[in-house]
Amino acid sequence: MVLASAPGKCILFGEHAVVYGQPAVAVAIDARVRVIIEKSQSGWLIDGMQFDKQRHPHLDAMLKRMWINDGGHPLSIKIESDLFGAAGLGSSAAICSAVAAALLHSRGTPAEELPLPGIATTAHLAEAEAQGGRASPIDTSTSTLGGVVMVSDKKEGQANWQYTRDLRIDGVRRTWEVHSVDLPPSLSEASLVIGFSGRPGPTSQMVAKVATLLSNHPEKMEDIERIGNVTRAGATALSLGNLQAVGIAMNECHRLLQGLGVSDEDLDRMVDAALPSSLGAKLTGAGGGGCMIALTTEPRRTAEAIELVGGRTMVSRLGASGVCIENK
Ligand code: MEV
Repeated sequence: MVLASAPGKCILFGEHAVVYGQPAVAVAIDARVRVIIEKSQSGWLIDGMQFDKQRHPHLDAMLKRMWINDGGHPLSIKIESDLFGAAGLGSSAAICSAVAAALLHSRGTPAEELPLPGIATTAHLAEAEAQGGRASPIDTSTSTLGGVVMVSDKKEGQANWQYTRDLRIDGVRRTWEVHSVDLPPSLSEASLVIGFSGRPGPTSQMVAKVATLLSNHPEKMEDIERIGNVTRAGATALSLGNLQAVGIAMNECHRLLQGLGVSDEDLDRMVDAALPSSLGAKLTGAGGGGCMIALTTEPRRTAEAIELVGGRTMVSRLGASGVCIENK
């Protein structure tokens, strides 16, 4: 039996724009996904039920790549999650990353020697296959590496370059540079309050919606580039520990995402409710439902304000640890 866990994530800056090569910055959060894998005598099982590939396309892609095609025996996989489901908090990426770590460990890789770039790559391939090729590696890199991660189509000066991620799907090659961002101690004064609207955020649909908008209105590509510039400013502010500037960049990102049509009334209402007690607030992830985040030094006050307008909340520090084996 192997127990592995990986954190969820929130995108601080750059969602959607990252699909078009712009940078994005995400933080690993204190809420985690835990997976337990064991040999099964009763065929493939997920949470005790027969494995349904339609319900778990990410896992299907992952298991084929890492286990089934190598003749691996059927497994029972149990999944426990602290995350709001289908809420844009990277739950499927965290599952893929934790399952990849568990499979490698069960085949003999020591817990201290997990090949993190390899795990992030395999998890990204599974996510991209399940999402029709459009997924950026931001979710899977963050749940694997933990901390704060920046991905971009080029090496970015504000962050520490880690590795290059290549993806070839349907003959098209995409390349991202994956970085980590060091946080100065002053950032521990602030928390993230995550507000969930209660409605799932349909990532593939929202990514497709932005693609349609850009093909009908090519001038909107300027807003994608603006998000990229705000993201770079936000990453610099983060690495300098300038909380005020981080908040301003978050607010600006939200405004630009509204212009791309990915926010909605619930998200805007929670953002407005959070702002008086926050340094900045924005939707996080794909939008169209899902979650918003607020950066705040008064997490209780901010969480109450979000709950008063109907959101469910969770508080996290910035930058939890990445994927790991829990039963070493
Ligand atoms: C999903 O968490 C964020 C998006 O930018 C999609 C992606 O990066 O693949 C909307």
